[in-house]
Amino acid sequence: MELWTSARRSKVIDVRGVLGVLVLFYTIGVESRKSVKWDYFEYGASNCRAHSASVSDFGGVGDGTTENTKAFQAAVDHLSQFSSKGGSLLYVPPGRWLTGSFNLTSYFTLYLDKDAVLLGSQNESEYPLIEPLPSYGRGRDADGARYSSLIFGNNLTDVVITGANGTIDGQGELWWTKFRAGKLDYTRPYLIEIMFSTDIQISNLTLINSPSWNVHPVYCSNVVVQGLTILAPVKSPNTDGINPDSCTNTRIQDCYIVSGDDCVAVKSGWDEYGISFGMPTKQLVIRRLTCISPTSAVIALGSEMSGGIEDVRAEDITAIDSESGVRIKTAVGRGGYVKDVYVRGMTLKTMKWVFWMTGNYGSHPDNNYDPNAIPVIQNINYRDVVAENVTMAAKLEGIAGDPFTGICISNVTIGLAQNSKKLQWNCTDVAGITSEVNPKPCDLLPDQGQGKIEECNFPEDSLPVENMGVQTCYFFRKRW
Ligand SMILES: *[C@@H]1O[C@H](CO)[C@@H](O)[C@H](O)[C@H]1NC(C)=O
Ligand SMILES: *[C@@H]1O[C@H](CO)[C@@H](O)[C@H](O)[C@H]1NC(C)=O
Ligand SMILES: *[C@@H]1O[C@H](CO)[C@@H](O)[C@H](O)[C@H]1NC(C)=O
Ligand SMILES: *[C@@H]1O[C@H](CO)[C@@H](O)[C@H](O)[C@H]1NC(C)=O
Ligand SMILES: *[C@@H]1O[C@H](CO)[C@@H](O)[C@H](O)[C@H]1NC(C)=O
Ligand SMILES: *[C@@H]1O[C@H](CO)[C@@H](O)[C@H](O)[C@H]1NC(C)=O
Ligand SMILES: *[C@@H]1O[C@H](CO)[C@@H](O)[C@H](O)[C@H]1NC(C)=O
Ligand SMILES: *[C@@H]1O[C@H](CO)[C@@H](O)[C@H](O)[C@H]1NC(C)=O
Repeated sequence: MELWTSARRSKVIDVRGVLGVLVLFYTIGVESRKSVKWDYFEYGASNCRAHSASVSDFGGVGDGTTENTKAFQAAVDHLSQFSSKGGSLLYVPPGRWLTGSFNLTSYFTLYLDKDAVLLGSQNESEYPLIEPLPSYGRGRDADGARYSSLIFGNNLTDVVITGANGTIDGQGELWWTKFRAGKLDYTRPYLIEIMFSTDIQISNLTLINSPSWNVHPVYCSNVVVQGLTILAPVKSPNTDGINPDSCTNTRIQDCYIVSGDDCVAVKSGWDEYGISFGMPTKQLVIRRLTCISPTSAVIALGSEMSGGIEDVRAEDITAIDSESGVRIKTAVGRGGYVKDVYVRGMTLKTMKWVFWMTGNYGSHPDNNYDPNAIPVIQNINYRDVVAENVTMAAKLEGIAGDPFTGICISNVTIGLAQNSKKLQWNCTDVAGITSEVNPKPCDLLPDQGQGKIEECNFPEDSLPVENMGVQTCYFFRKRW
């Protein structure tokens, strides 16, 4: 396919639904005599857009070496005029598009062609410094400012980042090396960060080699993350997959993640900063997640959970060669809570721990945390779990004087590894019940006997995020 090189020739039209198809056939009829060819493709998105452009219209060059940061930002700035006029789509054609950080706009879709690769710039100056997050008080890697993410959005409404499985390659190696050597003055950029925004869809993309976290919606509501393949070396530092952070109403589904840190890490701010910001993550659905993460969790709740985490529903989780399943991480000084967590249906193979809760995670932003800020952990349900080649079934460690309560575990079959521990359940400062769990649980989680699987319930009502649908949108390209 021909790439567009000039603005005049790059007529790109995006129209809606059936009307769009009629327009297409009409236009083909008229245009074909002038030997103009059209092609089109369809894609799924929460909203279709009335206007569109290609990054090559703004001087972008997809040769893998030209810096396109200015082209991307100019394209988004231009398209932002259509926010109140039907919205806009920025098309990234086949090619290798080197770019630093750029900001998105509202009522906007960033669409990567299946053969498009966004390449993260290796030049730190291409990532402007921004303030630390208010709920963290500092950067995660270093005090003070942080590099803005490769794709960044702040204070937006209705943003779609999607493609026919196009690729975003953070080229993280350079950042990992500097991080390991302690040579970074600021916190590494994430691949995608959207802050203080609502109605967000991130879907059908492959994300590789992020400098740090991959997808970070923070202070957002109505977020759908779907159909992502996220790949990073299993030894790369902090390459978490998807981190919903102080967000309400989020759905993560059909994602495949191989990473050097937690595949999904649910967060809500850090110690005194998170407590005073006070914004929980709640109403979160995670389903059909496949994870490989040999040194981390499939789903972590925390360790930054000071704004609270509540109403998390995880279903149909598959993991191979991961450290632990759904893990709770917290510490004295965090405050906040993790409550009403429901997990149903996990298939796990080669795990160090199936169940893991840690009350002494430590890791404080500074020494000003409040030693009386005790986290509350309650109503944590797991059921229908099959695991094999497991070293230890459970390590459940609450906080002395602050037990983790309402733990319910049922219908669990764990096959042990050759090198498995003699003590399979090590429980301290926890309370709850179990039913039909093998090997036999600890005394702090007494067995209710057969037929009590339903005690560990899973909510039957549906969260509002289930109403965030996908429309079929059509995107038309004119070719000469
Ligand atoms: C993802 O792609 C599949 C097919 O490739 C399509 O059916 C679906 O609508 C897309 N979903 C989203 C949310 O982009
Ligand atoms: C991107 O957004 C950040 C934070 O909102 C802002 O500081 C920065 O100036 C924006 N950059 C551009 C190029 O608009
Ligand atoms: C890095 O980017 C800055 C600003 O974007 C630019 O001035 C500088 O020349 C670039 N450095 C290299 C080595 O390309
Ligand atoms: C957020 O966006 C709204 C509308 O676009 C604007 O009025 C407001 O000033 C923005 N706030 C910040 C903090 O950027
Ligand atoms: C997307 O691309 C990745 C990497 O090539 C591949 O592993 C994955 O199967 C692809 N996903 C789909 C839905 O085609
Ligand atoms: C079982 O787990 C061990 C690590 O604990 C691993 O080395 C081994 O390959 C696994 N075996 C199978 C059959 O997956
Ligand atoms: C127990 O778990 C298995 C698989 O994890 C599932 O197939 C079965 O339906 C569950 N039993 C009940 C009573 O829910
Ligand atoms: C059990 O857990 C406690 C608290 O974490 C720890 O001190 C103890 O060493 C563990 N016991 C074994 C046998 O692993």
